[in-house]
Amino acid sequence: MPDAYILGIESSCDETAAAVVRSGEQIVSNVVFSQIATHQPYGGVVPELASREHLRAIAPVVRKALADAKQTYQSVDALAVTQGPGLAGALLVGISYAKALAFALDKPLIAVNHLEGHIHAVLLEERQKGNPEFNFPVLALVVSGGHTHLYLAQQGQVWSYQNIGRTRDDAAGEAFDKVAKLLGLGYPGGPVIDRLSAHGNPITVSFGTPQIKHRDRNERGIPSSEGPRFDFSYSGIKTAVLRYVETHNLQATITGRRQKIAALSNPTLEDYLAGCDKETLDLVASFQRAMVEDLVAKTLAAARAYDVATVFVTGGVAANQELRQRFEQAAAMEGLPVFFPSRPLSTDNAAMIAAAAYPKFLAQDFAPLDFSAEAGLGLK
Ligand code: KG4
Ligand code: ZN
Repeated sequence: MPDAYILGIESSCDETAAAVVRSGEQIVSNVVFSQIATHQPYGGVVPELASREHLRAIAPVVRKALADAKQTYQSVDALAVTQGPGLAGALLVGISYAKALAFALDKPLIAVNHLEGHIHAVLLEERQKGNPEFNFPVLALVVSGGHTHLYLAQQGQVWSYQNIGRTRDDAAGEAFDKVAKLLGLGYPGGPVIDRLSAHGNPITVSFGTPQIKHRDRNERGIPSSEGPRFDFSYSGIKTAVLRYVETHNLQATITGRRQKIAALSNPTLEDYLAGCDKETLDLVASFQRAMVEDLVAKTLAAARAYDVATVFVTGGVAANQELRQRFEQAAAMEGLPVFFPSRPLSTDNAAMIAAAAYPKFLAQDFAPLDFSAEAGLGLK
């Protein structure tokens, strides 16, 4: 089989990204244009602004990905684009652009599920390191700003997935972002909380995360014939942090910190540390500990229940240092191999989209030109 160069395009949320990946195993270029600066003043992603920024960035980002890869529009073998899940308007920018390009160039176009992209980021990472083989079944925790899902993954001609856990309310990354916003730490919250937590005592405040009953039922409470479920819930912990702030009268310090951080164009760890007293650092570290413990405990419980051979942890929150350490320790005790993408491949990127497209390219599973964005697309 000759090498196949796939141009991947990703625009599901607040990153406009394009990449060229060779045969699903080698990143040739990987360009990510982050819109964080645009959304930062609002403390979260503003959908209309995201679409506008994608429109501005998409053509130069794709051109740069081709130039970095020393490829041309004509030389790539196929195009791949994220179909969903994500923001409808944001997805449409990438899809319209990819469709027009595929039509003009007469190249095949592959529609990719963003969550499958995150799972294939792990495979891409390992293939690049020369580890192409995994033992199945694989259990994948996809944990990001929009998602907290557990999938059993099977490899066939194309991959297939069974969802055995999801969040009932907030995604884990969303909880990181909301708690950071609440504490005046800016946006996005995950990376800041990650770095600050190392400076606090994680056993100071005890936060519980709900253990969902009826684990053998689906999200509508209907008994599941497909085996036990391992669902998550993170809206309560955010409220618990708010209660702590109120009962410990932290509001004035938070307002001061928010103003100081907002005045800095690119705050450093030292700037954040200077704005946080010990009580805040302990609170942040305790919050992160509770999140990490819950993600690790539920994932490993699911791994035991389904007797999986391998665990993948992927998505923006998989960049978290404590999450990686705790997963590695806990999985090692159970003799279970656990794999993460490198940090740049954990957060949104288009290399993972081009990698996930490769098995579909081999199977000639191409998208019809009338396919459209699916904001709530599920993974099967
Ligand atoms: O995968 P991603 O880039 O976009 C989505 O598909 O949602 O994930 C972004 C999310 C944000 O919520 C961000 O706060 C979180 O991932 N995140 C982290 C870290 N880096 C990014 N959360 C915890 N620790 C981190 N180091
Ligand atoms: Zn994502």
